[in-house]
Amino acid sequence: MPESLTARQVVGRIRAGVGGWVEPTVDVFKAGDPDRPVTGVATTWMSTSYAIQAAAEAGCNFLVTHEPTFWNHQDTHHDWFAADPTYQAKVDLIDRTGVTIWRFHDNNHAGFDPDPVLWTFLNMIALTGISKGDSPFSWQGQVPRMSLKQFAEQVARCLHTTNVRVVGDENLTVHTIGIGAHNLDTGLDANHGAEAVLIGETREWDTFEYYRDAALLGIPRGLVVISHRDLETWASTVLANWLALQVPELKVVAIDSLPPFQMQLC
Ligand SMILES: [Fe+2]
Ligand SMILES: [Fe+2]
Repeated sequence: MPESLTARQVVGRIRAGVGGWVEPTVDVFKAGDPDRPVTGVATTWMSTSYAIQAAAEAGCNFLVTHEPTFWNHQDTHHDWFAADPTYQAKVDLIDRTGVTIWRFHDNNHAGFDPDPVLWTFLNMIALTGISKGDSPFSWQGQVPRMSLKQFAEQVARCLHTTNVRVVGDENLTVHTIGIGAHNLDTGLDANHGAEAVLIGETREWDTFEYYRDAALLGIPRGLVVISHRDLETWASTVLANWLALQVPELKVVAIDSLPPFQMQLC
């Protein structure tokens, strides 16, 4: 029986499938042994302890994650966490399950046209007439004319989430929707001609307050905020389907990272 591919070889297939490769990048191995033979590949948005466990239970010892493993973008600062019980427990879980973790973020966004992460999301929320904005992470699209509140409710319905917050006049009529990734600047890029901007996770003290001032000053513009997970988790299945074509000899499954909030009070 031929030896199974190693995680490093699977990454080689991914790189060959993508074509170009953005460097420097956070798309590197984060934990485990890259030269371990792979029993199966799992894709996920965030390599949470849940996703690591779920990958192992699905018989997959290689986890491809879109976001970090150790709670910061570069996955450095291990020294900060060295004596931290959560860090230690997560490292123990990775060791115990034998799961190797590799990040596919920068080149997942940049390596395909259109960006599959945002494209999947834009279709999830039923936007039409989608076009790219000024920055790589700003887009625009249209919805039938409706109130800002109705648009927020549509987003909640489409994403099966209750984690939707609105800044601005809920009765504002919206039609053109800007999508900005996570920051005020990408939101501003998405602003042009848009009555509402939709963002996945953002800082309250700048982005929220900009849109609150806009509403208070009579500028017809609103903000709808969802969680980072609700913006990006949907592309895990798209990635799994693409990856299955790159490594047809391996099982590939997608694991939902699940919503981050256990309880929300109205
Ligand atoms: Fe992200
Ligand atoms: Fe992303």
